[in-house]
Amino acid sequence: MCGIVGYLGSGDAYPVLIEGLKQLEYRGYDSAGVALVGSDGRLNVYKEKGKVADLENYTADKDKSGHLGIAHTRWATHGEPCAKNAHPHVSSSGRFAMVHNGIIENYAVIRENLEKKGYEFKSSTDTEVLVQLIDYIASRDNADTVIALQSALREVVGAYAIALVDKEHPDCLYAARKSSPLVIGMKDTDFYLASDVNPIAAYTDKVVYLEDGEIAYMHYGDKLRIVNLSNAECCHEVMTVPKNLGKAGKDGFGHYMLKEIYEQPDCIRDCMRGRVNPEARTVTLSAVHDHRDRLLSADRFIIVACGTSWHAGLIGKQLFEDLCQIPTEVAYASEFRYCNPVIRSTDVVIAISQSGETADTLAAIELARSRGAFVYGICNAVGASIPRATDTGSYIHVGPEIGVASTKAFTGQVTVLAMIALDLAKEKHTIDDERYAAMIEELAVIPDKMKEVLKSDGKIASLSKIFTYARNFIYLGRGYSYPVALEGALKLKEISYIHAEGYPAAEMKHGPIALIDEEMPVVIIAPKNALYGKILSNVQEIKARKGRVIAIVTEGDDVISRIADTCMEIPRTMECFDPLLSTIPLQLLAYHIAVCKGKDVDRPRNLAKSVTVE
Ligand code: F6R
Repeated sequence: MCGIVGYLGSGDAYPVLIEGLKQLEYRGYDSAGVALVGSDGRLNVYKEKGKVADLENYTADKDKSGHLGIAHTRWATHGEPCAKNAHPHVSSSGRFAMVHNGIIENYAVIRENLEKKGYEFKSSTDTEVLVQLIDYIASRDNADTVIALQSALREVVGAYAIALVDKEHPDCLYAARKSSPLVIGMKDTDFYLASDVNPIAAYTDKVVYLEDGEIAYMHYGDKLRIVNLSNAECCHEVMTVPKNLGKAGKDGFGHYMLKEIYEQPDCIRDCMRGRVNPEARTVTLSAVHDHRDRLLSADRFIIVACGTSWHAGLIGKQLFEDLCQIPTEVAYASEFRYCNPVIRSTDVVIAISQSGETADTLAAIELARSRGAFVYGICNAVGASIPRATDTGSYIHVGPEIGVASTKAFTGQVTVLAMIALDLAKEKHTIDDERYAAMIEELAVIPDKMKEVLKSDGKIASLSKIFTYARNFIYLGRGYSYPVALEGALKLKEISYIHAEGYPAAEMKHGPIALIDEEMPVVIIAPKNALYGKILSNVQEIKARKGRVIAIVTEGDDVISRIADTCMEIPRTMECFDPLLSTIPLQLLAYHIAVCKGKDVDRPRNLAKSVTVE
């Protein structure tokens, strides 16, 4: 939610800031802005409603000089999306400009106090309140900027990642974080600041991740200085980021989402590389190996996640119970953190997150650790907050996911969960050697089978045109296919804005079947597995009420395929791996329907890729 970029160095700030914003646009895209400070202390602030490209157009003929600057791409929390509410916000005196990601919860009280002191506000944002507070403290106490920042941050309640410039110090850049991410890159005398490492990786591989309660003070020509809110110096290890980070293009695809759907065979291969060995028929994850005893002695697993990652967690539960006989619960992180859950020191909490920054998942991790549980993270974004907050973990290694609707991260998460389950099952002796070997052999060929599924893209694109009329969809599945139904419905909702519901197929007759008529498209995930006969009855129930059935079936199916109105085939695989294949047609269906309806697939309304606020 909201992307921040900052630069201080020997070059021009503007190009670094704009390029950085483009890479962070997945975090929010309702407005964007930039503040540039000239060496003479001149402060130019430009803001525009809409996307980064709109800001670029707006600044085309403006003075963009300056070696110091901050920039922001916004996902609105307080105040509607418009240029007035866009960041950077400037204090009344014109001295400070600030960008912010997060929420200042007690902003109303602070604003009221400042208004009594004569401060006037131009926006309805919580961010403007913070920059005014810094200005007020700096002038009241004649305080140095870092001291004023520390005092102001001690007064605020909430979450923030901020970047601040002070026109009285045109050679200094300030930043602070609490619960929202910030990374600082360093190269010679240049400093780069961003919400994630991608905008920085193009310039340097040396970075420092700011921790909660820390303030970074960057002075041109000096070393990075980090202090806490009590002004104690903080030491940080300089990390080296992997070289393969950085710019991700669309590679000729119309949208990042489609590119990422197509990347899945390669991504899943990357995810398994060095872990699944089909020749030796073994699967080994270093985190499982290193923490074997702790994982094997767990009384219970609790999976915490949000959205698509939560759907992957539902598949994880079935894998851990089916293969390892480990009782597993799955909780929405946002509920878990506030429901005073029973967490024991013998529990293992598994946190799943693509971005590694989801505020609710981070809070759930903190809660679990405070109660003594061991926390295992499954994450995509390397070096993000969640992998750093957990006891151990496994990356899914599917590369940057830019499309707001999660696709390859989902299949990557399911693959990692399957690998953990197999590795543990072997250690626990809950799987026999024959089944273990057969499952590894099958997992290894899933990328090839994914490629087969992608061949139905053309058929799905044509089919999608028929369904643009629909205002509602129902998705049904059973067993391992039930979370796939939920995920298919979520994909359709978020990018096409068509209302969609996912249900366990047999639950239909307990109420939702009342919705079925000849208008209602019903997507049924019905691969040939142990539950095939059961789901066949559910298909009959829908057809008997004239529902329009779109079925995902195993190739060669000659029963459901005859009853359904339309079929999409997937190759045969083992039941627990079906989701890795059956999800793909649903991703493509959502994608093509959204394209047919003229929606902005990569930047759906009201959404952001990384949800760093509650
Ligand atoms: C849906 C989607 C979201 C995320 C959710 C959690 O396509 O992307 O539902 O899955 O916001 O995000 P992460 O996985 O980054 O914690």
